[in-house]
Amino acid sequence: MLRSHTCGELRISHVGLKVSLCGWVQKVRDKGKMIWIDLRDRYGVTQLIFEEESTPNEIYKMARECGREFVLQASGVVSERSSKNKNIETGDVEIVVESMQYLNKSKVPPFIIEDKTDGGEELRMKYRYLDLRRIPLQKNLKLRHSLMRETRNYLDKKDFVEIETPVLIKSTPEGARDFIVPSRMNQGEFYALPQSPQTFKQLLMVSGFDKYYQLVKCFRDEDLRADRQPEFTQIDCEISFAERKDILNTFGGLISHLFKSVLNIDIGSIPIMEYDDAIKNYGTDKPDIRFEMKINDVSSITKGTGFNVFDSSEIVLALVAQGCSEYSRKQIDELTDFVCKPQIGAKGLVYIKSNEDGSFKSSVDKFFDQKKLAEIANLSMANKGDLILMLAGEKNSTYNAIAELRLEMGERLNLRDPSIYKPLWVVNFPLLQWDEESKRFHAMHHPFTSPLEDDIDLLDKDPASVRANAYDLVVNGVEIGGGSIRIYKRELQEKMFNALGFSEKEAKEQFGFLLDAFQYGTPPHGGIAFGFDRICALFGGQESIRDFIAFPKNTSGRDVMIDSPSNIDSTQRKELGL
Ligand code: AMO
Repeated sequence: MLRSHTCGELRISHVGLKVSLCGWVQKVRDKGKMIWIDLRDRYGVTQLIFEEESTPNEIYKMARECGREFVLQASGVVSERSSKNKNIETGDVEIVVESMQYLNKSKVPPFIIEDKTDGGEELRMKYRYLDLRRIPLQKNLKLRHSLMRETRNYLDKKDFVEIETPVLIKSTPEGARDFIVPSRMNQGEFYALPQSPQTFKQLLMVSGFDKYYQLVKCFRDEDLRADRQPEFTQIDCEISFAERKDILNTFGGLISHLFKSVLNIDIGSIPIMEYDDAIKNYGTDKPDIRFEMKINDVSSITKGTGFNVFDSSEIVLALVAQGCSEYSRKQIDELTDFVCKPQIGAKGLVYIKSNEDGSFKSSVDKFFDQKKLAEIANLSMANKGDLILMLAGEKNSTYNAIAELRLEMGERLNLRDPSIYKPLWVVNFPLLQWDEESKRFHAMHHPFTSPLEDDIDLLDKDPASVRANAYDLVVNGVEIGGGSIRIYKRELQEKMFNALGFSEKEAKEQFGFLLDAFQYGTPPHGGIAFGFDRICALFGGQESIRDFIAFPKNTSGRDVMIDSPSNIDSTQRKELGL
């Protein structure tokens, strides 16, 4: 090796040792008679020192001419620094350089490669290989590596087999749009990239691989958000002969193992919440349970008071912000603007202040007397000094909006501490979802999700009320995984396709291979897939998954570094029959 140590390794105990380091020049400070260079590699930063009096002349000259991001090999003696830097682990020492060579020079980089950079997002994405030199990003990718390693360790110990499945496939039923690849050898026909290996993992159960997993790339052509990328990674898993409780234990165990082995955090046992309760109490199927602030339906009290907004609404919901009765006009206006943003879509915000003296002050005093306000406060369990916030409208959108308001209040009241992790299983989702546009039911999860045993009879009579044997793992309000117990009997699968309005022909066309396979002794099975990038971001205490992926796409789905997607030439087009 060209180095004896890394740039993150040397400590006071190494003083006096002769060492060689290799790395990139992060910063040069030239004070005339002294020059300091911060040398960086992926392990850290070490200070090199050059003194005009004692450093060989040509080395001193080289240090002076060194530019940012030059690659150096420097040798010298470790010595104790007179002014120590407590912010870095090597901050007690520096290398008194005796010899040095440029291993390579560098053009002036387009932005400063330090923890805090001056480069904008787009520029850093274009030069992602330089951005990745920055220590925060290197930390993120190392965290990703550790999570990958510990995932494999855990599943391997439990006898899971990692099996790769193909990438050029036929459409999978995950509900997003497919990415399509034209086939040269079969002109006019197309492959789809997998939205998940769902059908393959079920086929592997038919094959008898009773515990499967795969760290696998999935592709979904959908609108991007901080927690969505068009290509992302799943920890995809399936087990045969297992009931729901076994799956929750095994994969709850995986998450506990990741927290313990990577962050040294004991998350304890993971609570289970019914989907209906999640919606009723938190307005969302992915509640952040780091804080309570439950939502209350106060419609029964607010009806018929002459306040048209409430009278004409399907539902009126309230939440209580503890200790906020002193909120100013400005603060209330900010909250009103927040809920009226187009993404949230509320029409307005009503408040009731529960004053310390026992009286109430509200934005609807004209319609609600003190007695009525006290009733609302009572039902929503508000105490003196609290602020009640209310939204009204159509049921689903009002639950959605108040769920956002709850998170916003959680944020404002510092109730969403990023160092606290509260995982939660949400179970028993609706099996089907009515789609107004196509006037038919869609599978909320996918068409192989089993209904709950008790609800099978309802499939014909009242499909909307059927609950699925499905579960999501939610941590701090982020859905990090989801799965289900599958349908494995043909009759039930046919019933399900029926409810989805699939003709036999349609079902055969789309999933014929799976239905065929299911005739050859399919074991009962179920599984789950975790969003691996989301787990990484969560563990790294950030919301965006982008900085946990080495080469991500931007929000318009572009890779600006390699300039993709891009045009193809006419020969290629012709070959593909496009
Ligand atoms: P599902 O569609 O719920 O289930 O996906 C599983 C998990 O993958 C993550 N995820 C994403 N992460 C980043 N970018 C995206 N675009 C994206 N889409 C999804 C989420 C999600 O919880 N085959 C089923 C699983 C099963 O039934 O076993 C499936 O894919 O964290």
